[in-house]
Amino acid sequence: MAPQDSTGRLAGKIAVVTGAASGIGATSAKRFAAEGAKVIVADVQVDLGRRVADEIGGAARFVECDVTDEGAVEAAIRRAVDEWGRLDVMFNNAGVVGAVGPIEDTDSAAWRRTIDVLLNSVFYGCKHAARVMVPQGSGSIINTSSIAGVIGGVGPHGYTAAKTAVVGLTKSIAAELAAKGVRCNAIAPGTIPTALTADLVSGDASNLAAVAEQTRQRFGKASDVADIANAALYLASDEAGFISGHTLVVDYARSVNGGSGRFTNSEASMIGIATTGHDRR
Ligand SMILES: NC(=O)c1ccc[n+]([C@@H]2O[C@H](COP(=O)([O-])OP(=O)(O)OC[C@H]3O[C@@H](n4cnc5c(N)ncnc54)[C@H](O)[C@@H]3O)[C@@H](O)[C@H]2O)c1
Repeated sequence: MAPQDSTGRLAGKIAVVTGAASGIGATSAKRFAAEGAKVIVADVQVDLGRRVADEIGGAARFVECDVTDEGAVEAAIRRAVDEWGRLDVMFNNAGVVGAVGPIEDTDSAAWRRTIDVLLNSVFYGCKHAARVMVPQGSGSIINTSSIAGVIGGVGPHGYTAAKTAVVGLTKSIAAELAAKGVRCNAIAPGTIPTALTADLVSGDASNLAAVAEQTRQRFGKASDVADIANAALYLASDEAGFISGHTLVVDYARSVNGGSGRFTNSEASMIGIATTGHDRR
């Protein structure tokens, strides 16, 4: 083993991260590898995904994977097992904003697609990870929910429904797999600077600084994608060995403060709230 493998918090572990071409997934994949893991970088974005895997180097492989395709998710997991013999960490993280707008106008096809990307994908990831982890007698599954999965009114309807269901699915799977040595937890991020939120906040997916500044103004502290990678690292590691069925909210107290702060115009229109600049407190 390389020196890093013997000292890292994920020394010797094998991970699959979906949505790893960008944002939370990319940062987590790099962090996992820096802590000694080998990582499958799985995403639909081929160029960006390859770049992330190249940056990581020999400890990473890129796999093109559309998480709405069960066979593709299974294949990403199989690649990890074929390359490195096992699967210790499954991070079901890929996501999109999905269907937006008032409920009366929400497009049904866009709704179904939202549930496919944000919820059915997590089911596929959990199912196929469990098929490897249960026979091993160990493993950590991590599902990306959202602050919209723990309180209402902070995300579009389909997104909120899917992310809330991810919390329930996480509990259900944790309950089943506890006796089999496999843990399952969720992470519920607040607003974190990634392409997804930068696009919403500023109309420019690369303007991550605008998101960090907005969270500083609205909630009292600038958010950082590393905040979520750190949470994922903890749940992936043996340090969280007695934690299962938990949703780790990483939002700097936003959800316990009623989702406080001010809606931006784009958020208000996504949720179908007519009044913009409305102070929710
Ligand atoms: N950024 C936030 O504030 C925030 C807050 C709460 C939850 N989340 C969740 O975090 C997760 C990661 O999002 P992010 O903020 O890093 O955004 P991001 O846009 O930077 O990354 C999302 C990644 O998912 C990939 N993806 C989308 N659809 C896919 C598909 N069908 N198959 C495979 N990959 C697909 C994208 O290509 C992209 O690389 C998502 O589930 C998102 O809902 C983000």
